[in-house]
Amino acid sequence: MNHVIKAIKARRSVRAYETKAIPRDVLSAIIEAGNEAPSAMNSQPWRFVVVEDKEAKKKLLAAALPKAKMITEKVKDVDPERYEAIKKRYAELPDPVYYSAPTVVFVIGSGMYADHSCPMACENMMLAATSLGLGSCWVGFGAMVADAPDVRGLLELKEGDAIFGPILLGYPKAHPPRPPKKDPKVKWI
Ligand SMILES: Cc1cc2nc3c(=O)[nH]c(=O)nc-3n(C[C@H](O)[C@H](O)[C@H](O)COP(=O)(O)O)c2cc1C
Repeated sequence: MNHVIKAIKARRSVRAYETKAIPRDVLSAIIEAGNEAPSAMNSQPWRFVVVEDKEAKKKLLAAALPKAKMITEKVKDVDPERYEAIKKRYAELPDPVYYSAPTVVFVIGSGMYADHSCPMACENMMLAATSLGLGSCWVGFGAMVADAPDVRGLLELKEGDAIFGPILLGYPKAHPPRPPKKDPKVKWI
């Protein structure tokens, strides 16, 4: 199979990582892959904040977890099965937001093109990670940190900045099974 399609099909959201750090050259290759993404008007409206420091991760978790828990309650009636799965993670994992991943990459964008362009950089990074034998996961809950002044300082968030991802990266403890995927809905003309 073509190696790009192979990586697309092999990518899974990984929620359990080895503690082993990712070498800097591997991380740089992943970030370069993000930076190569298409962007509206070639605006490249992103920057990358790579978090590996344990104390910084503690601050992130403290900021994100209460918000994640609050949002989870809203899922209760809409998707009870997912709600139970998420609640189980809160009960069992020391870090149910960033899954103790060795590296968390915040893709930070601003301006009118960020909403469409920054997710392109995120997906490029996740596919590059897969192709390099790493696991990844976009954790929307992990983006709910912008209200915490210490985290705003860490990420150097300015007015109008938005967080995309963040993208977890690390060596996977196991390869997760493929979740059910709907068949593509297509109209051929
Ligand atoms: C915008 C976005 C936000 C997500 N947020 C979370 C999250 O907060 N926590 C999490 O465990 N997974 C999160 N995911 C991963 C999805 O749950 C996952 O992509 C989906 O279940 C399909 O599984 P797959 O990625 O292995 O194909 C997120 C994915 C996307 C695209």
